[in-house]
Amino acid sequence: MQIKIFKTQDEIANFVSDMFIEEIKKESPVLGLATGGTPVPTYEKLIEKTKEQNISWKNVKTFNLDEYTGIGPAHSQSYRYFMNENLFNKIDINIYNTYVPNGFGNLEKNVNEYDEKIAQEGGIDLQILGIGSNGHIAFNEPGTSFDQKTHVIELTEQTREDNKRFFNSIDEVPTHSITMGLATIVKAKKIVLVATGENKADAICKMIEEQPTTDLPASILHDHANVVVVLDEASASKLSSKTIEELVEA
Ligand code: PGA
Repeated sequence: MQIKIFKTQDEIANFVSDMFIEEIKKESPVLGLATGGTPVPTYEKLIEKTKEQNISWKNVKTFNLDEYTGIGPAHSQSYRYFMNENLFNKIDINIYNTYVPNGFGNLEKNVNEYDEKIAQEGGIDLQILGIGSNGHIAFNEPGTSFDQKTHVIELTEQTREDNKRFFNSIDEVPTHSITMGLATIVKAKKIVLVATGENKADAICKMIEEQPTTDLPASILHDHANVVVVLDEASASKLSSKTIEELVEA
């Protein structure tokens, strides 16, 4: 696991967007994307660099990590809507090459088809991840099996509480979502996990310094061969000096 610590959001966005640009310039890139507050500065930077460097996304395919069930793509808090607004509408990607799990209809069928589609496209080359304050990645909440593929999951009260800031009240926050499973996520060839803010410091410290456990879903990344963890000083604040000495790269 490689760890990078930056002082500002801008430096983080710059570093992570460069990782994506490198992939986008390859022949038929498959990108794994995330929603939430963390990736927004990276998407802004990607849009900026796309214009500056005249980059085309025509050959790019994307798969998002998750989607709420029961709210449609037109709902302003759906992850499809988020992705269209924050990235897809601002670049020249073919919208039919952008996949977000479908939270409506036959959910069982939808989840199986999602994993099949990722496999058909040759797997994900670079996946961006955020992390929940409880250590979840995508919506894989504590207790989720490391063998789990894409599935429907009931959100914990803590996650609904964390996400209520995007809704009018907690009652409007959906109770379930479709999420890429942990087994699906770790198939990505390269992973960049980004965490900012002090409320992520505990989860980050446990993920890096403790043994993998399903109590902390992000700890599955321990054994992945190609993970970069990108932090600000607040989210890195609980790391031991030994970790900083051994794992943090300048
Ligand atoms: P956030 O969410 O980026 O909004 O903090 C991260 C997550 O819950 O995975």
